[in-house]
Amino acid sequence: MYQPVHFRKAKKIWFMGRYVDWPRAFVHSMSHALHYGNSVFEGIRAYPTAAGPAVFRLPEHIDRLLLSARTIKMTPPYDREQIIEAVLKTLRLNKLRSAYIRPLFFYSYGNLGLVPKFSPVELLIGAWEWGAYLGDKTEKGVTTYIVPWRRIHYSQLDMRAKLGGMYVLSTINGLVAREHGCDEAIFLNLEGRVAEGPGENIFIVKKGVLQTNALTESILEGINRTSLLEIAADRGIPTRVAPIRLKDLFNADEAFFSGTAVEVAPIVQVTDGSNPKKPGKTRTIGSGRRGEITQLLAETFRDAVCGKLPEYEKWLTYVDKKAGRRSASPRRKGRSST
Ligand SMILES: Cc1ncc(COP(=O)(O)O)c(C=O)c1O
Repeated sequence: MYQPVHFRKAKKIWFMGRYVDWPRAFVHSMSHALHYGNSVFEGIRAYPTAAGPAVFRLPEHIDRLLLSARTIKMTPPYDREQIIEAVLKTLRLNKLRSAYIRPLFFYSYGNLGLVPKFSPVELLIGAWEWGAYLGDKTEKGVTTYIVPWRRIHYSQLDMRAKLGGMYVLSTINGLVAREHGCDEAIFLNLEGRVAEGPGENIFIVKKGVLQTNALTESILEGINRTSLLEIAADRGIPTRVAPIRLKDLFNADEAFFSGTAVEVAPIVQVTDGSNPKKPGKTRTIGSGRRGEITQLLAETFRDAVCGKLPEYEKWLTYVDKKAGRRSASPRRKGRSST
């Protein structure tokens, strides 16, 4: 039995086709995914609204999960609507007002040859209360370390997919950044330009223009990134999707991370550790505090996910079916791919 010390209020987990008590959701030690990292997953958040908890962009997350599964040639045993229903039921069973939700497909127990011919694909869905990923830094600002290891290149793997094994790079470099006394890592891509964080996209602001980089810069197509670009455009903030050079980041008026876990977190300091032979130089970004546009986007995003802005209700799937305008139906195919 495991004690759910860091998983507050998590009671039941959807595990291999049924709901299991959280401490009893075991996998076999010879499960294929444990050895080779061949799982695909999503990170999703549910937020409290006046009409009860609502999941932010649930259909889009499940579409990305299924895309990730196709990328590693998995045949999931559940379809889109079944997974959406299982996520909602997991939230209901656990009586969560807000949650981080982790659906994950993995090759389970069957064979250990590299080709998972006899290892069935299984699904788990965990949901628990999880506050800001970078704690109080989400408002104060994050110090970052540009790590020497480069991001996997888009020519090597489909970067739109969230593959378990790819996150080894994220965990190693999250630790490297912390060894250097920083809160979070930043990856350069193979071209030597700014790519993304271990679990976050990057935005900069210069002279009032909001900029993020394109998928050809070896980044994940973040759902929060797409949403923030839309919010910014709606608020009259000029946006630009273009490569971010190191000097663009250093000279930015503002910079921030975006992502499901981190939400919107200002980057206030960057140490360039990209050349391990040279001592890393530290620079302050802008005023060294959360900038105006970052604050506006963070607050608008928060209002949107908490159901306070009718124009963004389209992004919410209410856990209680009778609440709000439920949007889990397959209303939309394809997302923007800027
Ligand atoms: C590597 C990476 N980049 C960016 C993001 C942000 O993506 P999203 O906004 O969909 O959470 C994540 C988180 O899922 C990530 O793991």
